[in-house]
Amino acid sequence: MSAPSTTPGVELPALEQLEAAVWQALVQASKTRGHGWRTATLATVTPEGLPDARTVVLREVRPADHTLLFYTDARSPKVAQMRAQARGLVVCWCPALGWQLRLQVALAVADQGLDVSSRWARLKLTPAAQDYLSPLPPGSRLGAPQVQAASRGHFAVVTARVLAADWLGLAPSGHRRARFEPGTPAQWVQA
Ligand SMILES: Cc1cc2nc3c(=O)[nH]c(=O)nc-3n(C[C@H](O)[C@H](O)[C@H](O)COP(=O)(O)O)c2cc1C
Repeated sequence: MSAPSTTPGVELPALEQLEAAVWQALVQASKTRGHGWRTATLATVTPEGLPDARTVVLREVRPADHTLLFYTDARSPKVAQMRAQARGLVVCWCPALGWQLRLQVALAVADQGLDVSSRWARLKLTPAAQDYLSPLPPGSRLGAPQVQAASRGHFAVVTARVLAADWLGLAPSGHRRARFEPGTPAQWVQA
């Protein structure tokens, strides 16, 4: 994609154009291996109120309803965390664009229904199915590393609805930062 320029002497894009470019970059990332935003950090809150975070792969992006989709093992600790506290943060950094994105999100996990079964039907034919076939829940203590597969999958789809976005664009001429919130005018903010 061609990103709006933040190089010296080049006019800054309008905020609306920048917001559209951010969503376009997210869509691109979900479809492109190696894109900086394809692996994001998803931060959640533990039942003790402590922060937790991990890397996840951005699988799908729906700009029209401001949502991102991730896949996970339904038994993983993050699922219980998201069910207990549905607010989280997604952080992405793309060195090629020089863009950081911090997204406040409302999280929902589905481990059954058509949205889940249709994606699992496709995924289970690929090597990536291994990620959802461990006999024990992720994080279980082991005597030695185990690569054995279970007969059934524990696949779940995480939907993250973006409530607010904080974009930071690094540039030699000066960093730029903007805040986007559905229903509120977009705003430049001090980087
Ligand atoms: C590059 C990379 C991509 C990953 N992608 C995912 C993913 O898409 N979904 C997922 O559940 N875990 C993914 N993981 C593993 C998680 O980071 C984490 O270790 C695991 O899900 C357990 O997290 P939890 O204990 O917080 O539930 C990925 C790890 C790496 C290093």
